[in-house]
Amino acid sequence: MALVRQLRRLSRTFLAVGPIRTGRKVEQVTLARAASTTQSRPLPEKEEVSITFVKANGERIKAKGKVGENILDIVVNNDIDLDGYGACEGTLSCSTCHLIFPKDVFDNLPTKATEEEMDMLDLAFEPTETSRLGCQITMTKDLDGLEVRVPATINDARK
Ligand code: FES
Repeated sequence: MALVRQLRRLSRTFLAVGPIRTGRKVEQVTLARAASTTQSRPLPEKEEVSITFVKANGERIKAKGKVGENILDIVVNNDIDLDGYGACEGTLSCSTCHLIFPKDVFDNLPTKATEEEMDMLDLAFEPTETSRLGCQITMTKDLDGLEVRVPATINDARK
């Protein structure tokens, strides 16, 4: 019992523990939360960004995403109906996430296409000078309001 009393005393200031078993008796020790100098602060919310997909038939689909997500994430998270889009789930092996960017945006995208992406773009449906793969484009605050064209169809490079 002395041990239990000692634990209770300590717990009032520092510890948060559950039931303490002493012999046959179980004592529930309700303790105050430990005083902490490292109180958890909420993580900053990632900034929201918007993107508009313009389909070949002219239909415009607006979606919201977060800075740090790639365009494939946004399509999936918003459950956007783009037939066959993102078939390889971003593993850079299908080219179904092909998108066409406005020239000024394309020139200022945060990353340039890697050799692997260029190889995959060669297999995409009618690639253009400003084509990129959506799974390789990470959204930044600067890309907020982005408008991209979705090709009329897809080529799945795996087939
Ligand atoms: S999702 Fe397959 S290459 Fe982007």
